[in-house]
Amino acid sequence: MARATATFACQECGASHAKWGGRCDACGAWNTIVEEARREAAPKGLSAGRGRKIDFVGLRGQSDAPPRSASRIAEFDRVCGGGLVAGSALLVGGDPGIGKSTLLLQVCAALASRPGAAAPATGRCIYISGEEAIDQVRLRAERLGLLDAPVELASATNVRDIVTSLEGGAGVQVVIADSVQTMFVDSLDSAPGTVAQVRASAQELIRLAKRSGFALFLVGHVTKEGMIAGPKVLEHMVDTVLYFEGERGHQFRILRSVKNRFGPADEIGVFEMTDKGLVEVANPSALFLADRDSEVSGASVFAGIEGTRPMLVEIQALTAPTTFGTPRRAVVGWDSGRLNMVLAVLETRCGLSAGVNDVYLNVAGGLRITEPAADLAVAAALVSSLSGTIVPADTVVFGEIGLSGEVRQVGQTEARLREAKKLGFARAIIPKSKATGKNSKPGGGALPITQIAHLNELMDLLPPQGQNPTVRSASG
Ligand code: TYD
Ligand code: MG
Repeated sequence: MARATATFACQECGASHAKWGGRCDACGAWNTIVEEARREAAPKGLSAGRGRKIDFVGLRGQSDAPPRSASRIAEFDRVCGGGLVAGSALLVGGDPGIGKSTLLLQVCAALASRPGAAAPATGRCIYISGEEAIDQVRLRAERLGLLDAPVELASATNVRDIVTSLEGGAGVQVVIADSVQTMFVDSLDSAPGTVAQVRASAQELIRLAKRSGFALFLVGHVTKEGMIAGPKVLEHMVDTVLYFEGERGHQFRILRSVKNRFGPADEIGVFEMTDKGLVEVANPSALFLADRDSEVSGASVFAGIEGTRPMLVEIQALTAPTTFGTPRRAVVGWDSGRLNMVLAVLETRCGLSAGVNDVYLNVAGGLRITEPAADLAVAAALVSSLSGTIVPADTVVFGEIGLSGEVRQVGQTEARLREAKKLGFARAIIPKSKATGKNSKPGGGALPITQIAHLNELMDLLPPQGQNPTVRSASG
């Protein structure tokens, strides 16, 4: 007979310990050890060590594409890969107050309302709020003009109650649990929001979703570091992880898929927060470039790709004399390590030094860029800021920079150039294409382009203006 002993497991690395401790000896993480439920004694049939035989099949077979239900909020559907898959679990993370509850209430209402009598009947759309009272959600729905949508609303936190209410009830299409940190399983002692509770609640709800075939949204809080609070296993357990992000001061909100078992990852949807809730932004490039001041140094337009979609944004750089101590390098919307790298390459390979200046870099509009292709646009903004030469307003820039100052090719050149042309840009500075030689024109002649192979050629395109005192150029 199995002896009943308590086990303690680290939620970071999974190591098991004989007793509780503040720090896991195996991985060094603090406060990650929790008591795990005792393992039940093995059922009789299993004690012989034999299981059921499983069948193996080939890769080719009859599997239908998963049925999807689209919310007809185009930006949202694209991020999900074309609509919600029945029986899938989605985790939506984001800072407090960024608009997660607003977005999901709008999605829920959109799924619940039929566009016309001819449309197929939708299942029940259920919104369970663990954070807000019914009245608060109603107030929000009123603000959003969604009072008539046939959404079923509940305020509950006990997972057992939720499972009992939804079990067997056929025809549920979507369930939203806002948020998973407030949910609890009453068989565990720990408080809601602890690692063990979050994991157990999510597991229970996901199992129910798979069994009943509804799409489940779990809203997750993020920690100070920007990770979804709770164990990393939460991200492994769900099919899709979406982050809702944006700068608090900006009205733009970006829904980004970082994992998707049913569609492309890294896809983004752009929304604008208005007094009537979130509104889709169908053409984000036009919006991100709307407030551009064309005749200013230290700015360049980057033709980027977010997911499957090209997106143009303005990169701004400012250098100002350091007033004290070490020069500052401040970045909004990009990686500060990469900024330091570009500055170092400019100094070592091109002889352009930022000297004793603070350097500020900003991606206008509140977008966060992760593509290395932004290197060349950042370099152009920095060179322009240091040399005082304006990057022509009708020019887009993209390309990756290597440590020797070489400009490397990036993917999807055509798509970037097409988007630039669509928005009225007349020129492009892009990496030299190695395969086809200097004279070939990618983009099918979409734009007059300047291909460059080394950062020095960018410096030649933006020669220093004599009057700027911050420039120390090796060549001049
Ligand atoms: P909310 O969805 O509650 O955020 P989360 O669930 O991510 O914590 O969003 C709240 C914020 O959104 C709040 O600061 C007010 C703002 N808001 C609007 O600007 N317009 C609106 O129509 C609504 C409903 C909210
Ligand atoms: Mg909320």
